[in-house]
Amino acid sequence: MFELNGFKVKFDSFDRPLRLWWKLTSDKSEVVQESYRIVIDGIYDSGVIRSDESVAIRINVLLDEARKYTAKVEVTNNYGETATAETTLYTGIKNFKGKFIAPKEKIESFTATKRFDIRKKVKSAILYTTALGVYFANLNGERVNGDILAPFWTSYNNTLEYQVTDVTDALRENNELSLSVGKGWYNGTIGFLCVENYYGTENAAFFQLHVLYEDGEEDVIYSDNTVEICDNKVLYNDLFMGEKQDLNKVGVKIEQKVIEYDYSKMAYQKNEPVRIIKVLDAAKYIVTPKGEHVVDFGKNITGFVKLKVKGNKGDVVTVKHAEILDKDGNFYAENLRRAKATDEYILDGEEDILYPNFTFHGFRYAEIEGIDFDINDVKACVIMSELEDTGNIETSYEPLNTLIANIKRGQRGNFVDVPTDCPQRDERCGWTGDANVFGRSACYNYFSEFFYEKWLDDLRSEQAPTGELSPVVPTIQDGKECAAIWGDVAVSLPYVVYEMYGDKTVLENQYESMRSYLFACERYIDDSGLITSGHQYGDWLSLDRDQLTADNSVGATDLYFVANVFFANSLNIMSKTANILGRNEDETLYRQKYENVVAKTRDAYFTKTGRVVSDTQTAYVLSLFFNIAREDQRNVLVELLKENLFEHCNHLTTGFAGTPFLLLTLCDVGLNDVASKVLLTHDYPGWLYAVDRGATTVWERWNGILPNGDVHEPSMNSFNHYSYGSVIEYLYRKVCGIDLVNAGFKKILLKPNPINKLKKVSGHYNCVYGDIKSSYEIKDDVVEYKFTVPCNTTATIVLPSGETYEVGSGEHSYSEKRIKANSIKITLNTFGKELIANPDMLEAISQASGGLINATNVSSFKEMPLGILSKYIGENGEEIFKGILERANYLLETM
Ligand code: BGC
Repeated sequence: MFELNGFKVKFDSFDRPLRLWWKLTSDKSEVVQESYRIVIDGIYDSGVIRSDESVAIRINVLLDEARKYTAKVEVTNNYGETATAETTLYTGIKNFKGKFIAPKEKIESFTATKRFDIRKKVKSAILYTTALGVYFANLNGERVNGDILAPFWTSYNNTLEYQVTDVTDALRENNELSLSVGKGWYNGTIGFLCVENYYGTENAAFFQLHVLYEDGEEDVIYSDNTVEICDNKVLYNDLFMGEKQDLNKVGVKIEQKVIEYDYSKMAYQKNEPVRIIKVLDAAKYIVTPKGEHVVDFGKNITGFVKLKVKGNKGDVVTVKHAEILDKDGNFYAENLRRAKATDEYILDGEEDILYPNFTFHGFRYAEIEGIDFDINDVKACVIMSELEDTGNIETSYEPLNTLIANIKRGQRGNFVDVPTDCPQRDERCGWTGDANVFGRSACYNYFSEFFYEKWLDDLRSEQAPTGELSPVVPTIQDGKECAAIWGDVAVSLPYVVYEMYGDKTVLENQYESMRSYLFACERYIDDSGLITSGHQYGDWLSLDRDQLTADNSVGATDLYFVANVFFANSLNIMSKTANILGRNEDETLYRQKYENVVAKTRDAYFTKTGRVVSDTQTAYVLSLFFNIAREDQRNVLVELLKENLFEHCNHLTTGFAGTPFLLLTLCDVGLNDVASKVLLTHDYPGWLYAVDRGATTVWERWNGILPNGDVHEPSMNSFNHYSYGSVIEYLYRKVCGIDLVNAGFKKILLKPNPINKLKKVSGHYNCVYGDIKSSYEIKDDVVEYKFTVPCNTTATIVLPSGETYEVGSGEHSYSEKRIKANSIKITLNTFGKELIANPDMLEAISQASGGLINATNVSSFKEMPLGILSKYIGENGEEIFKGILERANYLLETM
């Protein structure tokens, strides 16, 4: 069966081409698209085009404003089969008739209502809505869509998006359309500075409804001076502080006024809306030692609590939010800093369903005061930009599965229209560094092309004319800079989005911004030809700097070494981008600049023998991953990295700069067995440390909760920060081996690197062509591999033996003898510390010695080889040990 699915048409604006995508599926193999034909409602017909393109196809077509069109596509394949699909597209508005209506006197929240009659048969009715603030729209008492906190968060000083909803079926003869408006990002509290009124002081509502009748006539109904404004039950609302409602409140009419607005800032909504994506039941009801009444939802999420109650008129119900309970089991919200995250409701004595309209919280626990409630009546509504879930990995090792689920949950919680650092404390900003390190991982997990396009539009619109950037986008402050990783997002992220989705649009949109950022970086270069000044975050939050130094957050790796490595990488990306867009002069220029910075970095930061200025894991990783080290120095650096890890018993010490590349690098240099140890370590610092402590999202700090159960000090301690979740990129690209040869995965690289401890792994990534699958299973000495290659793509499959296959779409299975990553043997020269560093070795020797050599006593001979230790058990000790070692090495082999 040959089928076409996922057909999508994207309208960006009237001066841009439409973009179209579709995917193909078939039960045959080696399927390639031969031709396509696109037809749009009598206004466009491409004719049959012989082409295998199916991603972001652009068509230029003159479209009317405020119209609904049906687009059709018909595709044929190399078997002569045909498949079709159709979809709807709505255009935007060009002529803005609606006014921004506000109450004459400023109030916390208001509802703007318009009543109108419809007298003829309606063909289609398209509603355009937005607000200065956040809003929801009702038509005849029902919400017009599921949007939460529309118009979401853009750099409002430059862009205000409007939402487009088909309301054809909701219209009646007599209609009532209303928008209820709150403060949101517009004038509520935002950012770590807790600024208010950042974009303005007054909230306002806008709408424009285009009704097309069956007789061909059209009516436009819009917000104007006939709109009635009332206050409403929302007494207070703020994203950080929470919301207060009085359910007894009856709306009182308030005089209205029109706020002048520059319509050129208004834009068609670019990415998916924020919606409720899941509703969680309460997992547990807890009365804490302090006597707090707490509901545990089991997972750390972003959203709000919905509660059904029946209380007395005037009773006050309070809902507070927290991510964790403290060591003693009490409600712990100190790490939210100034965010009160408290919702309050004054009851009207009826049975009520309580939930806030204009706020959200990051939480797992809710403390509910003021009412007795049934746990079945308490739910958590999870919100997120409604992105398609495109990737996942399952393994035979449960703690790792939990980590993967936590990473994806963390992304959901931080993808509320803007890629934020965290969703709970008084911060929730689009930190550029966090977005940079997690970008590719995010794209594997969820379809993030439009999400990032929109965010990069904001980044570009806020960039200084001289190229510097705010470290948070949308910005909340003055002050622009060129800080490595954070600023480099301007260059790296467009390229990642291009690679992951094969659509040049993002590169075209961002090209000048990318160049401008690199020009700005050049201003920090001195006579040495390298960046040597300017604010830097370094290897943010790494563990290798003396924790007693005042600025230990930046880590121990030389700040300007980090800066120059990322600068070089950005120059390299710029050159590649210029090549893709056919800008040949720029390609050469940036290639030269790149080579120059690499050469100068080598001179300044490496010794002749290949040592690098900072003896840190991050310095080694960056030198290797970004090819900064000379070819003949790589081996020295690999050894140094290995040694450094070994000294830390295979624990990482890396921060934001090093962590995303640590395991990728280890795998690339042939040390996947070490990578797997670092990944699978359960003690601090490592990813599974948090998993073992019940984490359901990824923490900001490796030690958010200390080994003794104490909470790390609260000033910067989020339990939902996705940055370190970038390790999932290693799982997709290296362990499952799902990587790309060509942008968009038109040509796929499937190169798995099995991990002995993970007997079974299966992963998939639903790329823009279709679902790519890769799995392996270790069965004794054999590893079985299975791959699925989507239609209209090809793949190069490389097995660990080096065996390579060029294949087309369909399913492919192989098996080959397992190559033991773990070729290390335990000998009489093995030191105690080596056993500590290698949990498999420790387990093997402990089993083989019947517990004689075990996890507890091994630390007392850390600096002693087993040969010496054997002497302590008498003359034939060495013989006994040899026997133990033989058995241990056998166990190790089969582990
Ligand atoms: C944020 C980070 C961010 C950092 C940079 C923190 O407060 O939560 O994730 O990148 O500041 O200074």
